[in-house]
Amino acid sequence: MGTKLLDSFSKEYKQLLDSELRNLVNGLDAPPIIKEAMQYSLEAGGKRIRPLLIFATLDAFGVNPIYGLQAGSAIEMIHTYSLIHDDLPCMDDDDLRRGKPTNHKVFGEAVAVLAGDALLTYSFEVIGKTLNEYVSSEKKVKLMIEMAKAAGTEGMVGGQVADMLGEEKDLSLSELEYIHVHKTGKILAFCVMAGAIIAGANESELTNLSGFAYHLGLAFQIRDDILDVEGNVDLIGKPVGSDTANHKSTYPLILTMDGAKEALCKHIEAAKQYLKKTNLNTNILLEITDLVASRDH
Ligand code: IPE
Ligand code: IPE
Ligand code: MG
Ligand code: MG
Ligand code: MG
Repeated sequence: MGTKLLDSFSKEYKQLLDSELRNLVNGLDAPPIIKEAMQYSLEAGGKRIRPLLIFATLDAFGVNPIYGLQAGSAIEMIHTYSLIHDDLPCMDDDDLRRGKPTNHKVFGEAVAVLAGDALLTYSFEVIGKTLNEYVSSEKKVKLMIEMAKAAGTEGMVGGQVADMLGEEKDLSLSELEYIHVHKTGKILAFCVMAGAIIAGANESELTNLSGFAYHLGLAFQIRDDILDVEGNVDLIGKPVGSDTANHKSTYPLILTMDGAKEALCKHIEAAKQYLKKTNLNTNILLEITDLVASRDH
């Protein structure tokens, strides 16, 4: 798997993103503890795959990825908030995230809840304040609506609720697919759509990219389920076996490990087929797709 292109691409844009996130939180006028708690999880060492998807989609259109910096920062804030809340004792009750103690372990539950709230609300301000020549007011409104849908009740929150209600139940594959598509897939799909919105994609590009994003998002969570069983805690930076401890339905549980790996391959192939149907320069998106299939963290 050739990842040379992706390596230098992600190195360059991760640096820009990290410094943008740092400046955005530093610039807030608020009690230091909440800024510290926000920074702690933002800087803990996430893979940044969601912003990278925005940057790579812009690159596919031949648009400078830098125009996605604010949208990328916003979605990384939303994702980080979702992780802080997902780890709380009332949810997955996990102590390790991104290789460090979880936010509530360091700052206490009340500050962790508020750090999540703060990241979520700030993300919309960040999009609203975007000043760059590619992101018109009309595009900002579109981005905010799509981001709210992806993160909200019909997206990640709905998926998290279904995930919780499904504990200790025998779910069907289609019920589990609903959970995965919503709790994880919708935010990843938003990122591809955000790149397409900023670049001004046409209808057929939007259709093919949304097919791509659907399968990529589902594949991403199937790989997450697999890593929860056979991952290495030092690499994944979060506990192994959390799903079993919480009696979650997962792809390996429902389909067996071999079946889960087959499903992963099937969705990766379907994602690639959609990419091929676009006439875009999708080299980096293809490398991200391969990475999602084989990632060890
Ligand atoms: C973890 O996401 C939560 C899921 C939706 C599966 P990532 O695997 O992208 O976590 P980070 O951002 O790299 O920590
Ligand atoms: C989480 O799914 C999806 C989110 C919305 C955070 P998981 O609970 O499987 O994610 P991890 O394994 O804790 O990262
Ligand atoms: Mg969870
Ligand atoms: Mg979890
Ligand atoms: Mg998981």
